[in-house]
Amino acid sequence: GMTIGILTSGGDCPGLNAVIRGAVIKGDRIHEVPFVGIHDGWRGLVEDDIVPLPRADVRGISRAGGTILGTSRTNPFEHGGAERVRETMDKHGMTALIAIGGEGTLTAARRLADEGIPVVGVPKTIDNDLSATDYTFGFDTAVSVATESIDRLRTTAESHHRCMVVEVMGRHVGWIALHAGIAAGAHAILIPEVDVSIEQICGWAEDARDRRRAPVIVVAEGFVPSGEEHLHAPRGLDAFGRPRLGGIGERLAPEIEERTGIETRSATLGHLQRGGVPSAYDRVLATRFGTAAVDAVVEKQWGTMVSLIGTDIELVDLHSATTVLKTVPRERWDEAAILFG
Ligand code: F6P
Repeated sequence: GMTIGILTSGGDCPGLNAVIRGAVIKGDRIHEVPFVGIHDGWRGLVEDDIVPLPRADVRGISRAGGTILGTSRTNPFEHGGAERVRETMDKHGMTALIAIGGEGTLTAARRLADEGIPVVGVPKTIDNDLSATDYTFGFDTAVSVATESIDRLRTTAESHHRCMVVEVMGRHVGWIALHAGIAAGAHAILIPEVDVSIEQICGWAEDARDRRRAPVIVVAEGFVPSGEEHLHAPRGLDAFGRPRLGGIGERLAPEIEERTGIETRSATLGHLQRGGVPSAYDRVLATRFGTAAVDAVVEKQWGTMVSLIGTDIELVDLHSATTVLKTVPRERWDEAAILFG
């Protein structure tokens, strides 16, 4: 018979547990297919860290943050590739894999599928930057957390007549910044996709101040003001071997203060956006992805990924899923920008 191995890989994301639960319950009740859990993404497959995953173990987990299986950024192709993966699968009688992950994970899944590993993908990213699906679970929760945080930061900024710069996640794209910024009524939304100068940012802050408002500026972590590449936050280690701190939000605040004379503070929301309970929307989407993924496995649709197209769950080719980043279209930012300042 069939046994499905399931793993979560890459950065975590609210809703991962709902995918696992949906897949295991549908596998158990409808298809009578047992599951095993793979610990810490691809690491568990290359290091043989596998546990049984009976239905009782997924009871009630869809409201829990994180992932009960753990995650890592291990790339299987740096640790023996398809051959090593197949070895562990055979040892545990796994006949198929469900891989839940973002761009890196799905790229690895696609390569493994090309090399004959029976795998189905589930897209995961709070950044919402995968082009082959309209939405990913986790994004709605992140936007809610960011919106509530911006609302809170606004009241303290108002009390002190300050400008507040709020940095949200988004390495390559500005979806979280755009949505949270619109929801919270930001005076400027800065995203990697759109060139904006420091002068323009200060102009929006001054306009808001002139209307007796505390300027609220939302910035995606991947944004760099045009012509100010020195403000880009380099990753890596400092001279003492410690991780370098200080993202774009922290770097922007003193620039704005100096140029406008408005006292400015910054807050970086960071991993708060990825932790805690998933929103109802994310639980629903994740559950639908999980049940659709186990159906795809039973139908032997190897090399595909479940995806949300409009309101329907469909299967798309893993190749198409991983090639193009879904960036914020200029018109979407323009729509928001008429409300700035
Ligand atoms: O891709 C999701 C994401 O949260 C990005 O927005 C962010 O840049 C990155 O992961 C943070 O990664 P880590 O959890 O490894 O610090």
